[in-house]
Amino acid sequence: MRQQFVAGNWKMHGSLAGNAALLGEVLAGVGSARCEVAVCVPFPYLFQVQQLLQASQVAVGAQDCSVHASGAHTGEVAVSMLQEFGCRYVIVGHSERRADHHESDVLVAAKAQRVLEAGMTPIVCVGETLQEREAGQTAAVVLRQLQAVTHLLGEQTARIVLAYEPVWAIGTGRTASAQQAQEVHTLLREHLRAVSAAAADVRILYGGSVKPDNAQALFAQPDIDGGLIGGASLKAADFLAIIAAAR
Ligand code: PGA
Repeated sequence: MRQQFVAGNWKMHGSLAGNAALLGEVLAGVGSARCEVAVCVPFPYLFQVQQLLQASQVAVGAQDCSVHASGAHTGEVAVSMLQEFGCRYVIVGHSERRADHHESDVLVAAKAQRVLEAGMTPIVCVGETLQEREAGQTAAVVLRQLQAVTHLLGEQTARIVLAYEPVWAIGTGRTASAQQAQEVHTLLREHLRAVSAAAADVRILYGGSVKPDNAQALFAQPDIDGGLIGGASLKAADFLAIIAAAR
């Protein structure tokens, strides 16, 4: 039985005062959560958030990492550094990084491998653009993105978390219907099953305009194991309502 997982992705939002207020409210309300909970925060706030979440049930995550272990890579952050700040999760291959920083499938797979080597869990994002969906390429795109990862990781694939995030649903208020999401999750699950029995049990999160009013229908689907939550993770009441909707 896969435990559901709700992870907040703060993106480039936050301030020292705002983070403390937000997490204060989240911690006050998260007590009875059935699912696992994490927040993936901007690098400069990792230390603060690590301190605030110490001894709580909410895990800390980052939103990206360098593919390099160390060295002359100005502006990059190594997995060993994330690990020192208590990160349990690292998002890799978010569509905003694929688009804004031209991250390839191969690079995303290599980052996932780095994260695993450092003893943390990569949250690997896949998803099609609106244009790709309308051209009937959804399956081909998400499977190509996932295949790059499974090809590199092999049996280690069982240790990742996968997130299906249709690009057209991110931050747009336009969510995939529970059925549309489930269809893609089924495809992803079939591919994982072909890798190994253990990989078939990888948690597959849905992300893209998850809100309190659609979370329950999404999380009720057999192959949706939780959510990667952007905008709604910045409002404690909304984030808590989404956490409460998990099975
Ligand atoms: P959203 O973002 O919930 O604001 O649509 C999700 C994500 O990009 O992870």
